[in-house]
Amino acid sequence: MTSTEPAPLFHHPDRNLALELVRATEAAAIRAVPWIGKGDKNAADKAAVDAMRLFLGTVNFDGVVVIGEGEKDEAPMLYNGEQVGNGRGPACDIAVDPIDGTSLTAAGRGHALSVIAVSERGTMLDASSVFYMDKFVTGPEGFGTVDIRRPVGENLRALAEAKGKDIGEVRVAVLDRPRHEELIREIRAAGAGTRLILDGDVAGGINAARHDTRIDACIGIGGSPEGITTACAVKALGGFMQGKLAPRDDAERARAEAAGLDCDKILELDDMVSGDNHFFVATGVTDGALLLGVKKNGPYISTESIVLRSKSGTIRRVAAEHLAQKWLDPDFL
Ligand code: FBP
Repeated sequence: MTSTEPAPLFHHPDRNLALELVRATEAAAIRAVPWIGKGDKNAADKAAVDAMRLFLGTVNFDGVVVIGEGEKDEAPMLYNGEQVGNGRGPACDIAVDPIDGTSLTAAGRGHALSVIAVSERGTMLDASSVFYMDKFVTGPEGFGTVDIRRPVGENLRALAEAKGKDIGEVRVAVLDRPRHEELIREIRAAGAGTRLILDGDVAGGINAARHDTRIDACIGIGGSPEGITTACAVKALGGFMQGKLAPRDDAERARAEAAGLDCDKILELDDMVSGDNHFFVATGVTDGALLLGVKKNGPYISTESIVLRSKSGTIRRVAAEHLAQKWLDPDFL
């Protein structure tokens, strides 16, 4: 191919797209760094959104944001329904969370990630009309063992047995919120332990689905956009997840129903993202159990990312060194 010929087009997201996308999460994470610990979560988020959006515009794909930064009027960048990519290449649905853990970032705490998930067009559930979702994530042992409709103690005992563990060894990640007081009590009454997390249930869900972590499950109510994003990762990891939309009031339930969502339905992974050709990429913003955060190393900035591909079941870790000087130019990407 000569340099004047157009790049080849693919009808489906392919493995190269995943590696392009990791550059967008790296850029978002790097651009958020000046705001770590500065107490301004909106500024951190804006820096990450701007970087991600700029970068996505250069990638060969025809994306529509299904899970974004809110509605068009509230968020001029990466709003739900926005077209992203250069319009050439595979038609995709895209979920973006330029920073999952904006408060963590603003406070200078660990476990904040920059995240993108991509699937074939029409395969990602648009759950944006309901803010919260009840979630239950585990590794593959959850299939045929766990059912979100059953009492949590029953589920955890069955999960412990399936994993060949004592219930006392089971660790459950839960967002530390007043709404979870009863859930936390039930987990402990069953004999299991909690890992209370301040924010960031995407990382919590991934840690629950992975085979090499101390977390066995991630349970409770968190954002529904984060739920769909987590589903893309969990499916690629072969893990188990169920969700149920959790409208805050009758007006939200009515809006959801008008948008064609059933708030009483138990959402299985295939309901949240169908098919088996999707990718999940994340880069650490601040240090966490899943990924190291962005670090300055002499003349370089180092990033750590994870790339999951459902078709191959590959878990790829990408360690990158970026020449810091280049990033001083505000337009450099
Ligand atoms: P943001 O960084 O976008 O604010 O999300 C952080 C987060 O903790 C998510 O991981 C989680 O799903 C959601 O907020 C929980 O919402 P709330 O803080 O309202 O309980």
